[in-house]
Amino acid sequence: MTKESLTITDNRTGKTYEVPIEHDTINAMDLRKIKVNEGDFGMMSYDPAFKNTASTKSTITYIDGDKGILRYRGYPIEQLAEESNFIEVAYLTMFGELPTQQQYNEWEYEIRHHTFVHENIKQLMEAFRYDAHPMSMFISTVAALSTYYPEARNISDPQARMKQIVRLIAKVPTIAAFSYRHSRGLPYVYPDNNLGYTENFLAMLDKMGQTDYAPNPILARALDVLFILHVDHEQNCGTATMRVIGSSHSDPYSSMAGAAAALFGPLHGGANEAVLRMLVEIGDVKNVPDFVKGVKNRERLLMGFGHRVYKNYDPRAKIIKRIADEVFETTGRNPMLDIALELERIALEDDFFVSRNLYPNVDFYSGIIYQAMGFPVAMFPVLFAIPRTVGWLAQWVELLEDDAQKIARPRQIYLGKDTRDFVPMKSR
Ligand code: ACO
Repeated sequence: MTKESLTITDNRTGKTYEVPIEHDTINAMDLRKIKVNEGDFGMMSYDPAFKNTASTKSTITYIDGDKGILRYRGYPIEQLAEESNFIEVAYLTMFGELPTQQQYNEWEYEIRHHTFVHENIKQLMEAFRYDAHPMSMFISTVAALSTYYPEARNISDPQARMKQIVRLIAKVPTIAAFSYRHSRGLPYVYPDNNLGYTENFLAMLDKMGQTDYAPNPILARALDVLFILHVDHEQNCGTATMRVIGSSHSDPYSSMAGAAAALFGPLHGGANEAVLRMLVEIGDVKNVPDFVKGVKNRERLLMGFGHRVYKNYDPRAKIIKRIADEVFETTGRNPMLDIALELERIALEDDFFVSRNLYPNVDFYSGIIYQAMGFPVAMFPVLFAIPRTVGWLAQWVELLEDDAQKIARPRQIYLGKDTRDFVPMKSR
């Protein structure tokens, strides 16, 4: 029978160590017994950007990057996108099982009836500069929510935790919509609790006093599916940030503001904004070959391509491509789509991209759809943050309920100066 362990020989000392293997992983703390002298700190592993370090055991999201597989709680993303809706997927992600009809009704009711924000939150948002980036407003406002719910600091009480979870999932569309209206100089529209989650969000964005306003059902469904695709993606930069901040037992609003800040970066959730800017810059299908040449000469990145985990076609990108067709039937074709399709065609035939396993990721097509739906590019990361709220909170709860977790605190390899005496200014 094979033994589930790793034998390590330290050639500095000739000593051999046996380290247990569990789930194809060794525990980094087991390396600490590898020492040259008794007084040594012990061996560490060096892993900048956590490329090969599991920071948690998790039961939420499964990804096989080589095969292009994504599942929430075991359910393939394709089936969820086809047969479920965002609120149901949010329940699944949060609680681990699909809801019964009654559980669904109660969950949906709770979310639907926590959409309003305190009037002071509205005033706070009104105080932002007229051209403030909506994502900056979103991040700041989520952080500000902690001042309204001081009981949120009671993170060890499951009931208090659930209250904040419902509040956050319910209120993020309102905050997102207010940030959009603000950047357009439009009056904020209050939530309409007669409407479902995505319909209500579209209404808060679009409504201009019409009494008969009804969101377009095709666009609402497309947005709902996009939300499903963005619910969770295991230990990515934003989620890792949520867990790192949460590990110090911060309240969920403060932790989530940090996670959203991580998502804002152009290498993460800001990538679809960067894709759109790139497509606008390319401007015409005939300019695509020159642009690709520039990427290969390392003058720039092909935004929306490549992924830390997927070394195959991102399964979310496939679903999004299908949604694009449905949306364009309603909105008219976005001319950026032709440029994107040509970029993808050339890149997938080119050895530079093929040999590096660079395929379109979720952001490559999502921006084109958002633009066709009328969203300004600055809203793209905000649209990502709304559904990701669910994933962040599910991961946060998992962290708090995991006895193996402690405050996150990486180590370093110190390569700076050795001790030296302070030199007074006049002698330097
Ligand atoms: N365009 C051109 N070359 C690329 C790209 C790209 N988009 N992505 C990676 N490469 C190249 C790198 O230069 C590197 O080449 P080399 O080995 O010859 O030096 C090789 O492919 C491997 O890339 P890494 O940077 O090591 O891959 P990593 O896993 O660290 O980066 C990342 C992943 C950040 C997503 C990267 O592919 C990237 O910057 N893509 C563009 C931004 C983007 O679309 N981000 C969205 C990610 S999805 C999300 O966050 C929701």
